[in-house]
Amino acid sequence: MSTEASRVRTVRLASPEETHRLGVRLGELLEPGDFVGLIGDLGAGKTHLVRGVADGAQVPRSEVASPTFAIVYPYSGRIPLYHADLYRLTDYDDLYATGFLDLEGTESAMLVEWLDKIPQAAPRDYLRVTLKHAGGEARELTAEAFGARPAALLDAWMG
Ligand SMILES: Nc1ncnc2c1ncn2[C@@H]1O[C@H](COP(=O)(O)OP(=O)(O)O)[C@@H](O)[C@H]1O
Ligand SMILES: [Mg+2]
Repeated sequence: MSTEASRVRTVRLASPEETHRLGVRLGELLEPGDFVGLIGDLGAGKTHLVRGVADGAQVPRSEVASPTFAIVYPYSGRIPLYHADLYRLTDYDDLYATGFLDLEGTESAMLVEWLDKIPQAAPRDYLRVTLKHAGGEARELTAEAFGARPAALLDAWMG
């Protein structure tokens, strides 16, 4: 995570509905191989955003769960998606054990909560999304693109 982001956008989300809508737009744009890392405190809205992404990617509602007790959930929508949560992992070796590393660079898109727990889990090119509490139901979302495809994705997502 030492390289500079090639593009950064920040947006204020006033309600859960706004966060959901932004997630839907991202879900409509995701392509196989995209990697989105999600960072933010407990309750910041990472999973809420992912539900929107899943909706936008046409994942059946019944498939979407909070991945608190598993490391990786597979979703099948318009494209295959993996929703992962690294909260319970402690180091890079855990990624081998869970098979997480086998999933990267495949024909799936990846959505990874708590990427900051194991920053090395990110591929070279990825989109980093950070959510912060901003009072009440407000959240501040910052998206940072690392690499050409993530930058194009971010442009399409937020202009
Ligand atoms: N603007 C907002 N965006 C997202 N979630 C919000 C917002 N305002 C309130 N919330 C609430 O905050 C909680 C976020 O939970 P969750 O998405 O599971 O967080 P995380 O995965 O980051 O721990 C949900 O209960 C959601 O309804
Ligand atoms: Mg979560």
